[in-house]
Amino acid sequence: MTRYAGYRVQESNFIVQQANLRDLIYLNNAASTWPKPACVLDAVSEASRLPYLESGRTTLEGQVSYPDEGREALASFFHTNEPGEYVFTSNATDSLNILIHGFAASHASPFHVITTELEHNSVIRPLLSLKKAGKISLTIVPVDSGGHIHPDSIAEAITPETRLGIINHGSNVTGAVQDIREISRVLHDGGVFSIFDGSQTAGQIPISLSETSADAFVFTGHKYLFGTPGIGGFFLRTPEPVLPLKQGGTGFDSASPDHPGEMPVRFEAGTPNFPGIAAMTAGLRYLSDIGFDTITSHLSSMSGYLSERMSHLDSLILYAPNPDTPIISFNLSNVDPEDIGLILGRKYHIVTRTGLHCAPWIHKKLTGGAGCVRMSMSYLNTMEQCRIVADIIEELAA
Ligand code: ALA
Repeated sequence: MTRYAGYRVQESNFIVQQANLRDLIYLNNAASTWPKPACVLDAVSEASRLPYLESGRTTLEGQVSYPDEGREALASFFHTNEPGEYVFTSNATDSLNILIHGFAASHASPFHVITTELEHNSVIRPLLSLKKAGKISLTIVPVDSGGHIHPDSIAEAITPETRLGIINHGSNVTGAVQDIREISRVLHDGGVFSIFDGSQTAGQIPISLSETSADAFVFTGHKYLFGTPGIGGFFLRTPEPVLPLKQGGTGFDSASPDHPGEMPVRFEAGTPNFPGIAAMTAGLRYLSDIGFDTITSHLSSMSGYLSERMSHLDSLILYAPNPDTPIISFNLSNVDPEDIGLILGRKYHIVTRTGLHCAPWIHKKLTGGAGCVRMSMSYLNTMEQCRIVADIIEELAA
């Protein structure tokens, strides 16, 4: 087995065997949230146990439609009026590929694209592949000294050839959240189609898409919406600028040789991930029932506490001392972050993520490409866990 496939699995089995699951302190929620709320697990179980009676694909119709319920939950969660503006995909990477390549396929090339240095490889790699093919030119807008993208920097990057802007809404390395209202307005006023990557913000902060000019907003289910891996989606205000690159069965209009052009099936083909949609829908309802006042207050208490405790340690480098979302990225001077991650995992049963976090551009700026240790909290982490973690890091730093 390769190191990637084998070593990692053995390592995590080792940790899980050593620790009672209840004693595990899971701080890798930016990758995937764990644990999941009981209502999410129940929803997956029910959607897997009951027969599939989805409209268009069976008789005995009129039962629960997971996609319809899911779209309604999404529209309500993101404060928009039209559930049909939400497309299901398998994750944020899938959504970004559909949008980026679909946009490129429907526009004369070469054209100019604006993006930021906070992007994840799910944006960087599709863009670089288009650049390599001579289809786009690229401007990468840097963060300011506070880790944010100033809307004026976006405005200054717009040229007569700019057609597309792809902006990270929340960083998986620094926790910085960008001003989607202002940046989307600037792009809209410049005649530029905008895509926001909300992988790290959906479920962590209140988002009202109707108050923005964003053309598209990408989310994933398995992170802070508390769904399972394999489900994600995007909001798309006007579909025409994006060419669908996938065709197939939709459950209706089967005699037509053409895939339907209307939303949301324009971008959906094949059997949907019913249990995944049911899980994400349960997660959306769970978050809505708690409410964002409670969620954001708990999240900022945890990140404020950890930042405060860690900022006093001389040998510790904190890369974003005041994150907007609860992501704490750090290194200990002269120690390989991989080693810190292994010690935290093996000895203390604290799960973090080390390395470049699939975000090489911002890591180049912050860590010189060396990577760091990242702790990321969800609503289901506790202040007690943060106290334990701060004590342990204090001990390690000493
Ligand atoms: N983007 C995910 C992370 O930050 C995978 O870990």
